[in-house]
Formats: sequence, structure tokens, C-alpha cells
Amino acid sequence: MCGIIGYLGKNEKKEILLDGLQELEYRGYDSAGIAIIENKQLKNFKAVGRLKNLREKTKDYESVGFGVSIGHTRWATHGKPTELNAHPHMGAYSFVVHNGIIENYQELKKELQTDGVKFLSQTDTETIVHLFEKNHNINNNPWQSFQDTIAKLDGAYATLLITEADEETIYFAKNGSPMLIGFNESDVYFASSDTPIIGKATEVYYLEDGEFGYAKDGKVFLFDANGEKTFSKQALATDKAMAQKDGYRFFMEKEIYEQSQVMNDTMMGRVLEDKIDFEELDKNLFDNISNIKICACGTSYHSALTASYLFERIAKIPCQVEIASEFRYKEPLLREDTLFITISQSGETADTLEALKMAKRAGLRSLSICNVDNSSIVRESDAAVLTRAGIEKGVASTKAFATQTMVLWMLAIYVAQAKKTIDSELLKEELNAMRQTPKSLLINDSIHPKMTRLSKRYLHGHGFFFIGRDLFFPLALEGALKLKEISYLHAEGYPSGEMKHGPIALADAELFTVALMPKSLHYEKIKSNVEELCARDATVLAISPEPFDLADDYVKTTYDSHPMLEFFEMMVVTQLLALEISVRLGNDVDMPRNLAKSVTVE
Ligand code: F6R
Repeated sequence: MCGIIGYLGKNEKKEILLDGLQELEYRGYDSAGIAIIENKQLKNFKAVGRLKNLREKTKDYESVGFGVSIGHTRWATHGKPTELNAHPHMGAYSFVVHNGIIENYQELKKELQTDGVKFLSQTDTETIVHLFEKNHNINNNPWQSFQDTIAKLDGAYATLLITEADEETIYFAKNGSPMLIGFNESDVYFASSDTPIIGKATEVYYLEDGEFGYAKDGKVFLFDANGEKTFSKQALATDKAMAQKDGYRFFMEKEIYEQSQVMNDTMMGRVLEDKIDFEELDKNLFDNISNIKICACGTSYHSALTASYLFERIAKIPCQVEIASEFRYKEPLLREDTLFITISQSGETADTLEALKMAKRAGLRSLSICNVDNSSIVRESDAAVLTRAGIEKGVASTKAFATQTMVLWMLAIYVAQAKKTIDSELLKEELNAMRQTPKSLLINDSIHPKMTRLSKRYLHGHGFFFIGRDLFFPLALEGALKLKEISYLHAEGYPSGEMKHGPIALADAELFTVALMPKSLHYEKIKSNVEELCARDATVLAISPEPFDLADDYVKTTYDSHPMLEFFEMMVVTQLLALEISVRLGNDVDMPRNLAKSVTVE
């Protein structure tokens, strides 16, 4: 995920910016850049790849006197990771850095292009700096121009702007993306999280959505829709490791909590008023395609399985899912009317990459769904959709799975639109449900403590079964995988209707069954499957909006008429259960034994 740093003061600015960006490295990035105004001189450096490339480019540059400066690490969303797409973005005499997504950037860009503005990058961010300069060229008032600019932006942003038109000032605005201001005597810092300014600033103010203003002469002037406001600073934390985790105990925990936010990012500009749009996809991608095959591994395979229900149900297109390592050697029969989809968080998984190459050799059109732009799988595919989850550090995947599933759901609707298999009524329902998804991923005050409490009863036993039907079967597989990865307890996911065909032989009081019992999908069917297990004395943890008396433990979820909303809420419950069991067992939650985040070997 992108990172921002800004500094106003008399210390060496280049080093402050580069050190700050270094502290943001853990968030993941694929290019970086800085811009500095000192002695009325604007300097700008950008580099693709690691920060050492930017250090190398700036090694002969020093900035000593008073000045203003901004820096950024970019994780590509709109446009490839290239130098032109790296921030800070420049106009004729100003520079801007931005985190978030400007939803109406295309509209703004068109207006500016009509006025003769030339865009250098493919990013949404560049519109901010051109809009600012357009306003400034009319009113010659930088502060007014900045306010007029942010008033025009829709979407999420945390942004900093510097300009030769007012070379001792940093302008800032925040709405939906994090930003804070650090203080140390007359030095002012800006950052997208605590880590880059720990050890430099002593006090901090965390900006609220809708706040904006400017820093000048060591002072910060803060405004919101009601005008100028006062604010109180607080002491800045001193523990960097803790700050990287935003106060959570583990990266996995932070990532579970981030899911609601990243889901907004995943949908931004794609879930529109009346349709799904993927501007990165060629409109003809699905022409002459009558079949979809998806290949993936592990958690990504589970999102693929979920998608197979959605593609067939909504888009009415046959969809088969294969584990990549199996697909490679089964001598599969491939037909050219098949779209070959690969799903990968890292984009580097060897088995998935090889499966993709095989499909390409057979002449199939390919699409990848991936979290890392420019990764091997993205580069190898004909087309790619990025999941925009931001870097995932916990080895056990959480937000990557959530965003993959979301992209696949959107894709199912997109194909249904293209193939005209969805009527306007159903389309409206699906889009409405999608917009509710971030809410269904919010973790309320009671659920996490409840899972912590429950976890102590599930530390032994001879195994776990996670069971579900339909869309909830892949979720059961994923719940079981999460648990076994970080608890080292044996867990299996099973379609609940299959239990009686063998596994029910294991049922006794020491067999723990986590039953996913959504109200919106086959509730009565799964209920009777769970009753069969209860009758054999299995210990049952029921997750459902509907109280279930026979269960030993019960976690109440929200009733929602759309199964995907129940899906995402139950997903969070299973993630928290795995996390809390692992914590109680004293395991390394973020780096479980024997596992690697990116599996680049066969
Ligand atoms: C589980 C997990 C793995 C990965 C699998 C594929 O939590 O993360 O099962 O899903 O190794 O990796 P990607 O998605 O990077 O291809």
C-alpha cells in the first residue's frame, strides 16, 4: 500500500524523506519518489523498484537550508509501476503525493485535457496537481486554489501538495485515507502512519476525514467544512514495531481488521451506479468464450471455488476449478473457447505460473487476478485485475482472500452483463449487496472478545471439521486451512451433505465441528446435517444468524438476504477463531512453522 511522508523545516530534507520512506517499506511498494523546494528551487527524483534505486539517484544531492518536501512509496493501482506513474506528480510548478483513489478522476482528466493539459502518467493522482494549477492560473491564490481543488475530488485521499507559487508552504487534505501531522519545535512532519516520524517528531495530530489546511512557518492551520479549527496534539508513540502493526499484536490481526477498508479500495471505480466496470479489461475479452477454467493454489484456490458457484449461477457460464499442481500433470484437454483465469496473491506461485504457461501454449486467452502488479503471473497473462489489498505480511492469507473473492464476484456480474444473463432487477440487488460488503467486514466490539473466550475450549480434541454447503463449502475449506496453518491442529473442510458418506464415523465429543449455517442459503438442509452430528455427540460450534439449540457454542451473525454478505461476515469469524486459538497455543501467528509467504518452487 502506498505511503506518504512530508517535512517542513531547516534540516536536511532528502535524508528525512528517504529514511521516512524506508520506514514505510514494510507496507509494500513498487516505485518511490521525492520532491523538495528549497531556495525557490524545485527538485524531484523518482525511481522504480527498491528504495536503494532512489538513494542512488539522489546521492549527489543535498538539501540544507529551510524548505518544504514530500515523498511517496507507490503500490500500483491505476497504471503500471513506472517512473512516470511514480509520485510525486508534477504540474508546471507544483508537486503532489496522494494515497487512496480519486473516483471521478476520469471526468476531471477529460475536462483538463479539453483545456489543453497534457498528462504524463496513467494515474488518478495527476489530476490533483493539474486541477490545482488550473485554479491557480485563474485566481493567483494558492490557498484558495487548493481548497477549490479538494472540493472537486470524490473518493478517498490523503494528499500533500507543494508549489513554487508559495514555496514555504505544504498544503494537505485527508478524506478516507490515513494521514497524521508530527511536530518537533518548529519542524512539521506529515506521514500516512506513525512509523516514519517516530524518533523525529515528539507530538502528533491524527487528521480526521474532511480536514485540510496548510503548514507554514512551523505552524499548522487546520480547517474543515465549518472553517478554521483548533486541535490538540498528543505524545507520539516510540515503539516502531508496534506502530507498523498499527497497535495490533500481529500483522494477521491487523490485516483481518483492514478488510473492510481494502474492500472499498477493491470496489472503487468498479462497482458503479448501475453496472460493474473494469477499465483494465478489453471489452472483447469474453467474446467467443463459452467456458471458464480457474487455476490456483491454497487460499487462492478457495476463492476460485467460491467463484465457480457465482459464474455458473449468475453468468450462466460453465466454470471448472483446478488445483494448479494437479492441473500441470493431468494432461488436461483445453479448448480455445475457454478463458483461463489464474488467481494468486503473490503472483509468483510456481505451480500457478506454470499452469498459466501451459494454457497459453494451448492458445487459451488468460486473465489473472492478483495482488501484485508486475509480478510474473500478471506479466504472463493477457489481462489482469489487481485485488488492491495492499501488502499482506501475515503468512496466513486473510485480506487477499477477501479481495480475491470480491473481484471474482464482480467479474461474475461483469460476464453476466456481457452475456446478458442478468436482468436489471438482479443486477441492482447484486450491486446493492456489494456496496454493503465493507460493513459486513467490520468487526464489532463483541465478536472478537467472544472468539477469544471461545478459543480456550478448542485447544485439544482429535480434529476439526468446518462444514458448509454451496458457497459456504469453499469458505469451510478456507476456515479449516486458516486454523491448521497457524494452530497446527488438524482441521478439514467438508461439504456438510458429505459427512454422512464417511467422515461422520469420526464423530464423538472430541470432534469439533464448526458449522457455517447461513440463513440465506439452504439453511434447513445444513441444519439437518448438523443435527446428524449432534446426535453422534460431536461438539458443535454453530455460526449463524439463527440460534441453534443443539449446538455447544453459538456465534450469532447478522441476518442478510444476500449470501455473500453472510459469507464475508462468517469469514471474519473463522479468521478470528484461528487467530485466537493460535495465540492461546503460543504459536507464531505471523510466521507459522514450515510455511512461506510466496511459494516459488514446485
Ligand atoms: C494460505 C496461503 C496459501 C496461498 C498459496 C497460494 O493462507 O496463503 O495457501 O494461498 O500458497 O499463494 P498465492 O495466492 O500467492 O498464489
